[in-house]
Amino acid sequence: MARCAIAYATKEGHTAKIAARLSLALRAAGLEVDPIDVSAAPADFSLEPYDAALVCAPIHIEEYPPHMIGFARRHAEWLAAHPSAFVSVSLAALGTDEEDIEGLAHCVSEFAIATGWQPARVEHVAGALVFSQYPFFVRQVMKAVARQHNLPANADTDLTDYARLEEFAREFAATVPAS
Ligand SMILES: Cc1cc2nc3c(=O)[nH]c(=O)nc-3n(C[C@H](O)[C@H](O)[C@H](O)COP(=O)(O)O)c2cc1C
Repeated sequence: MARCAIAYATKEGHTAKIAARLSLALRAAGLEVDPIDVSAAPADFSLEPYDAALVCAPIHIEEYPPHMIGFARRHAEWLAAHPSAFVSVSLAALGTDEEDIEGLAHCVSEFAIATGWQPARVEHVAGALVFSQYPFFVRQVMKAVARQHNLPANADTDLTDYARLEEFAREFAATVPAS
């Protein structure tokens, strides 16, 4: 059975939830899967036992978490040489205008420059608004952002399209040769 790592970083927990859903979908597609929180991975962590990897990270203030930048930089050569994809979690993934699309492309391009890994495939996934977890000032800013984009500003909201996420997982699994 082919073995897939799902490396993820998260600030408010939503990317961990997405990694868990991807794990279930990849297992259903016949892969053996290990989710790995990169902030807790040992310094000598290696991808060598794996046949494929997904790298999942959220955007906060137009950047991916430093832990994930370090992880992708350390494993750039391996990621480029094996079936792999980058799952980018953001609010902008909901957007359809040029500004959103170009903004996301810019974030991914900066990530590729910082890590030396140019992902062959990038899946943009809408994240979540979790006002209940934000400190006071961040909550006010995120409520204003939500109102600006006609999103709910009074309750925590999961904006991820899980049917599309599972479809992506099936598509990715199909690119992993059986080991
Ligand atoms: C302080 C803050 C800054 C954010 N900045 C951006 C941003 O620049 N672009 C974007 O599309 N989404 C942004 N988001 C939305 C997050 O990407 C989204 O909430 C995601 O689900 C967070 O994932 P996590 O729970 O794994 O940290 C931001 C969220 C917060 C709380």
